[in-house]
Amino acid sequence: MSNQNFDVIVIGAGPGGYIAAIRAAQLGFSTACIDEWKNARGGPAPGGTCTNVGCIPSKALLQSSEHFEHAGHGFAEHGIGLANLTIDVAKMLARKDQVVKQNNDGILYLFKKNKVSFFHDRGSFVRQTAEGWEIAVGELRLVGKQIIVATGSSARALPGVPFDEANILSNDGALRIGAVPKKLGLIGSGVIGLEMGSVWRRLGAQVMVLEALPTFLGAVDEQVAKEAHKAFTKQGLKIELGVKVGAIESGAKGVKVAYTDAKGGAQELTVDKLIVSIGRLPNTTGLNAEAVGLALDERGAIVVDAECRTNLPGVWAVGDVVRGPMLAHKAEEEGVAVAERIAGQHGHVDFNLVPWVIYTHPEIAWVGQTEQQLKAAGRAYKAGSFPFLANGRARALGDTTGFVKFLADAASDEILGVHIVGPMASELISEAAVAMAFRASAEDIARICHAHPSLAEATKEAALAVDKRTLNF
Ligand code: FAD
Ligand code: NAI
Repeated sequence: MSNQNFDVIVIGAGPGGYIAAIRAAQLGFSTACIDEWKNARGGPAPGGTCTNVGCIPSKALLQSSEHFEHAGHGFAEHGIGLANLTIDVAKMLARKDQVVKQNNDGILYLFKKNKVSFFHDRGSFVRQTAEGWEIAVGELRLVGKQIIVATGSSARALPGVPFDEANILSNDGALRIGAVPKKLGLIGSGVIGLEMGSVWRRLGAQVMVLEALPTFLGAVDEQVAKEAHKAFTKQGLKIELGVKVGAIESGAKGVKVAYTDAKGGAQELTVDKLIVSIGRLPNTTGLNAEAVGLALDERGAIVVDAECRTNLPGVWAVGDVVRGPMLAHKAEEEGVAVAERIAGQHGHVDFNLVPWVIYTHPEIAWVGQTEQQLKAAGRAYKAGSFPFLANGRARALGDTTGFVKFLADAASDEILGVHIVGPMASELISEAAVAMAFRASAEDIARICHAHPSLAEATKEAALAVDKRTLNF
């Protein structure tokens, strides 16, 4: 059997891999992309964690559950009455699956459009040859001059407590619970814990979140984390901080979690389902990395330099399988930058400008430095914030929780960080990222005409607040 040769072979078709493959093909390279993810019928399902069991399905369920919550609790103040509100969980999950499928199909279409050869199987290293790196894909052998590894990550289980996806759920099981559980437990109040906890709480579950750290959302700006904690608690999400999780027993009657509370007291929680969302681990076991001496760190992540080069010539790695935030857009940016570097261009990713969004209600979004980071670095800064309560559009929407906060350099006024908790924070944060990419000052934003009435006016007002001259507050 003869080898198939390519300029670039990408292993993994998540957001890091499929975007890298498209960009490589756009740059004129003969490109292959290999991905093993199977849909329910055993067919290809490119898009990785993000499309299949991450960003996309979670946002579909967040949308459905938010509609349900609005219909149940928000419509009345608009004079809209609804009797006998029901939720058909099977239909909601089927819609989510359809949204996922549209994205899988979209990627297959993009591969065709860009002439990327797609292989649906596991890809693993065989050896280095004079022509490049030999990669096994089932019975096939591909050879690539350049390899981009984008194999992503998987949910981390608690030691000795494997996921059964029936009672003890990873993000995968959490996105396909067939009926609203009466009691839902979550271990970890990170991004998945809050998003998934919100979905099932809105649909009627009693939700209890157990978090090891004593601080809520420690990486988020303190003021934002405090506001979000207040809002989630008011909604009925129970979050217990500073716990130590002990034995977990799963049986016909549900799941029992023994834990020690922050005061050292022994506690027990019994729930129908338990979601374990305590972070993710890089996927490197299927790569046969040892055969070629690809260096991994102690977590199993591929070791890369600032430009995503591994220890092997012509082998690159991007996305969740390497250091840095585990975010789809970070993976995509790295994928594009690597394809461009292979083409001799100057691909660049600024990690300080990677925005974060938590799609709860209120949404939380930020870019750049937090106030606690600036204090720790001893940087002189000015802060300004503006509450959505004073924003006309937010009042009309009936969604006035939260604020926009700007942090700017005390001397130059350059924007150092923007933190938002409130309606549509996920969309509003882009203006901040753009401004920071152009190294704008707070005054630059304050002097730009923003449409009225819009939530974005809160951004302009927060920029004005840096100079203590808000107009509407
Ligand atoms: P992945 O998306 O994990 O893709 C890797 C692909 O490689 C997979 O298809 C896998 O099957 C394949 N693969 C692995 N090994 C092999 C092999 N040897 N051969 C062939 N194929 C292989 N991020 C955001 O930015 N926004 C969000 O809203 C968001 N929501 C999330 C919600 C949840 C519930 C979860 C779990 C994650 C979420 N994330 C979100 C994180 C995001 O999904 C990841 O950061 C992103 O998917 C990483 O992309 P990637 O390409 O590095 O890897
Ligand atoms: P996470 O890192 O966001 O949160 C994990 C939480 O679990 C932390 O608060 C940690 O202190 C806690 N924890 C760890 N071990 C624990 C233990 N033994 N007992 C109790 N608590 C424990 O990880 P999560 O939520 O699993 O999500 C993984 C990643 O996926 C995120 O970090 C993010 O990169 C990505 N993601 C992004 C989303 C977005 O951008 N909107 C949505 C969902 C996931």
